[in-house]
This record gives sequence, structure tokens and C-alpha cells, in this order.
Amino acid sequence: MALDLSAIGKQIGPYTKDYTWKDTVLYALGVGAGFSDLDYCYEKDLKVIPSFAITTAYDLMPELATASNINLAGILHGEHEIIFHNPIPPEGILSTAGAITHYYDKGKDKGALIIAEFETHHSNGDKLFTSIATVFARLDGGFGGEDAPKKQIPFPEREPDMVVDAEPSEDQPLIFRLSGDIFQLHVDREFAKMAGFEQPIMHGLCTHGYACRALIEKLVPGEPQKVRRLDCRFKRPLYPGVPIKTLIWQIDDGQALWRVVNAESGEVVIDNGVFEYGDPVKEEIRFDGRVAIVTGAGAGLGRVYALELAKRGARVVVNDLGGARDGSGQGSKNPADQVVAEIQALGGEAVANYDSVASVEGGGRIVKSALEAFGTVDILINNAGILRDKTFLKMAPQNWQAVLDVHLNGAFHVSRPAFGVMKQKGYGRILLTTSAAGLYGNFGQSNYTAAKMGLVGLMNTLKLEGEKYDIKVNTIAPVAASRLTADILPPDFIDKLKPELVAPMALYLVSEQCPVSGRVYNAGMGYFNRAAIATGPGAQVRDGENIFAPEQLLTQWEQISDLKGAKAYWNATEQIGDVLQAFEKPE
Ligand code: NAI
Repeated sequence: MALDLSAIGKQIGPYTKDYTWKDTVLYALGVGAGFSDLDYCYEKDLKVIPSFAITTAYDLMPELATASNINLAGILHGEHEIIFHNPIPPEGILSTAGAITHYYDKGKDKGALIIAEFETHHSNGDKLFTSIATVFARLDGGFGGEDAPKKQIPFPEREPDMVVDAEPSEDQPLIFRLSGDIFQLHVDREFAKMAGFEQPIMHGLCTHGYACRALIEKLVPGEPQKVRRLDCRFKRPLYPGVPIKTLIWQIDDGQALWRVVNAESGEVVIDNGVFEYGDPVKEEIRFDGRVAIVTGAGAGLGRVYALELAKRGARVVVNDLGGARDGSGQGSKNPADQVVAEIQALGGEAVANYDSVASVEGGGRIVKSALEAFGTVDILINNAGILRDKTFLKMAPQNWQAVLDVHLNGAFHVSRPAFGVMKQKGYGRILLTTSAAGLYGNFGQSNYTAAKMGLVGLMNTLKLEGEKYDIKVNTIAPVAASRLTADILPPDFIDKLKPELVAPMALYLVSEQCPVSGRVYNAGMGYFNRAAIATGPGAQVRDGENIFAPEQLLTQWEQISDLKGAKAYWNATEQIGDVLQAFEKPE
């Protein structure tokens, strides 16, 4: 009998597992949950212990063995890694399919490793997790393949940062086996003796579930949905009734290493444990169920934002006044109507709004149209814009005012009522639109640059006021060919500067997945970078007590002006804190 090396890449599965809340609770009881963590045991607001994922392996392991033609007498479940994409719902149907990805040869006497990777989807359409199983085939080594890459898990020398004690009951395997692994070794005394054990042994996967509970308890208490990755190596058998300890070392933000030891002998039962945790990163950015307002969405960048949001499930208010490039004229319903028609032709939902952002009433009506049509507002992209360029001395006050009214005041007029709705619902995404001209300066655009930089100031405060309500406020500085930039951008680049190459950043910043607030990103032609107010480390002049002459500054001018080692502060308090402490630090 030899391994079937041609099995690599051939599909295994799909296998389906139909489960109800009772299966979820049964698994939880099997891995020691009880009244102390009722969330896992009570169908009301039931939460699933993520290691439940491993129960999908029971159907796959026999298939894996058949496909690889492994010698069953030498088979051991060596390692198991699970990468979580979405929380596991408490009931439904799981569908799992995958393939063998590698065979490794550890030598004739040492055996072979078979690695298989599987994806599991839920009947709700979500991809839930990826499992990577390593099967140790003790009797199949020496087929001339390459050795497995060495896996070094860097456990620190220090004592564990956290220890969780547990005492699986002597009857634990009898409960755990009801979740699917009914191998006699865990229940039948005679069988266990034949296999060389004093009595039936614990399922390694049961101990694995204890460890998962322990890791959640210490690192993400009450939030099993935050488990992102669980990896380990099954090392030694354990008898039921023997107490265990899960040892945990916190390595980094969102990462810990772990082991399970036999509390009586100190022997390691499960080794090389890696646990990663944090907020889920959804693979696909979707806006299903979300309502978005995009101002100035009748053309240019706004139109593309609206279309892309709608394609991904958002219901969109397409606002556009339809005025001239400089904001003059009566306006027209055409641009907004056309974009709504485009969205509807693609099967999306949208309504048009023709109000000007430049007045309090207009801003109010724009938000009202979202509430009337769709009942809420989750996303606001402040995008409407005009230009009235003049050098400073020729800048008539009405041109200054008109540009500030649309860009800066416009963002205020629409954001304020939208912020109210978002605050009440505890969720919101606001995107402001600045410009490289505002961030860095542009000849002949004092009105526009002042307004655009004003928006960054608005963001800096809204990010703080929205923080508590999951309202994230960010700013984009786009570059794209449009009516606004037709005579500003170099003609050779016009074709290349597609608004579609800016939109991915706008969409990410207004998505649920967006992890940041208070950030400014440049976006153009598919090139992105972050811009920030950078503050240099500065210098202490004299002792901070005795008054000194301005000439004294000159002796340290370079150091005062140097941006090397600059940082971006989160808020003014942080910066003032540095000022107050400046003389306490060694220079
Ligand atoms: P665009 O002229 O193609 O689109 C702007 C839209 O805003 C127009 O459809 C216009 O009718 C609408 N609008 C103007 N005033 C309005 C008001 N009072 N109320 C409602 N709608 C109004 O311009 P583009 O290039 O798409 O610009 C979008 C935003 O991006 C603007 O804020 C602009 O300042 C900014 N931006 C654009 C850059 C680019 O390279 N295109 C560079 C930097 C910033």
C-alpha cells in the first residue's frame, strides 16, 4: 500500500452537516461548558464556541484517508488550524469541501504528513472558516518526497501570562462523542486496552474545545465571534478526569500562544497553539441593508461612488443640484435622474434629490429624502463641489463665499442631520472630500483650499464626537478626470485618471469593515497614500520658566523645525500633553 500521490488537488466533498441549536449546545457541554458560560448552553442568544468548527472534520477525515490511500493503522490527527471568516451561526447547514494540498515525507521510519485544506460555508451564504488539517501517517514515510518545512512557534521563556484550570469529568468523552467522533477508543475499555491504553482516552478535539473556551475567557470574554485563528498540534493522550491547564502567552495585539498541559504530570498534551483574535474582516465589502447619501452624485466621482455602492447592495440617495461648474444657474434634475436610472437598470435601488447642499434647509431635505425613501441613513459621502478660481487679490468676496458654502458649509449642512440619525442608531460612516490643493496648496485657489482644509478640521472633531457611537469619519483627497478638473489636470493624463480608480478607497472608508476614523487618504489612478498633520519632536528652549528673547529661538531653529521623527496626534489633548511634559523628559 502506498500513498496515492495523484490525489493532490482532487476535490473532497462537499459534505453537509445539518445542525440545530441542540447540536451547538451538545458540543459546548462536551467541552465542559455549563452554567458558568451559559451563552454557549442556552438557546436564548446562543453563541457558538468557534472550535465547534472542528466537528466538520469527522466526515472529511475518512474521505481524506480513502483519497490518499493512507495506511489506516498508522494514522493520527497531527495538527489542525482553523481560520475564521465569519461567526458560526447556532443552527443551519454547513457545507464543507476541499482537497489534499501537500504530502511531506519525514522518512521511512518517521512517516508522512498529509495536509488538506477545506472551506466551510453556511446555508446563509457566508463563508465561515477555512480548516487546514495535518494527518500524521506513521506507516507511509519513505516515498521520496520532500520533508515538511520546520515549524517554530516562538514560545517565550517566561512563565505564561495567563493560566486557566479545568477538570474534564471522567465521563467527558461520553458527552463529547455525541458531537460526531464515535471512535471506540474513547468509550470502549476493551478496545482501549487493545490499543495499549489503561482505559478509554479523552478526544484530543475535546481538550482542544476546553482550550478554545479558556482562550476566549481570557482574551475576548463573551465575544467568541472575535476568534480569528486557532492552530495547534495534538501531542499526547490524556485520560478523562485528569485536570488540565491552558497556558497562555500574550505575544502581540491580537495574538497569543498557548499549550495545554496535564496538571498532574506537567506533560504537554496540546502544543504549538496559536490564537489570533480581533474584529472580523469580511472578505467582500457589501452594503446590503445600508442606506447611503452621496452629494453631487450626478456626475464625476459622486456618480461612480453611487453606482458602486448600489452594486454592492446599498440603497442610495443620489443628490445633485445639476448647476454649472461654478455653481451658478438654476440647476437641473437631469444628472441625478440619469444616475438613478443607471442604478435601477443594474437592479439597484436609488432615489434622486435635487437640493443644494449650500443651505441648512437643503441639507435637511437631503437627509429627509433618505429617511422618507429608505427609513434611515448609514453612510454619507460629502462630495458635491464647485470651483471659482481667482488669485487672492482678485478673489471677490462672493466667489470666496460661494465655494465655502458648497464645500465646507455644505458638509456641515448635510452631515449635521445625518450625524443625528447615526448617533441614535449607533452606527455611521461619513466621508468628507478634501483635495491635494487644500492639503498642500494650489495657486489661484485660496477659497477652495481654505474650504478643503476646513473639512479636515471638521473631520478632526467629528471623529471624536462620533467615536462612542461607531460613527467613523474619514476624508478622501481624490484625483480624477471630471468636469471640475477638465482644464486643470495635464491633458495626457485625463484618460488615465478614471474616477473608478478612486472609488475603492471611498467604498472601503464607508464600509462596516473600515477600521479607522479621522484619517485622510490621497487616491488617484489606483495610487493611495495617507496624509496627516505631522508634528515634529521640537526642542525645549531654555528651562521653560525664565522668559527669553526671540533671538534665543534661532540657536535651535533647525531642531524646532525638523520633521524627523514627526508624529500624527489623535487629538489636541495628546499634543498639549506633550507640551506640558516637555520639560520633564530628558532633552
Ligand atoms: P464634478 O463637477 O464632476 O461633480 C461635482 C458634482 O457636484 C456636480 O455634478 C455638481 O452638479 C454637484 N454640485 C455642485 N454644487 C452642488 C450643490 N450645491 N449641491 C448639490 N450638488 C452640487 O466634480 P468631481 O471632480 O467629481 O468632484 C467631486 C468632489 O471631489 C468635489 O468635492 C471636488 O472638490 C473633489 N475633488 C476632485 C478632484 C478631481 O481630481 N476630480 C480633486 C480633488 C478634489
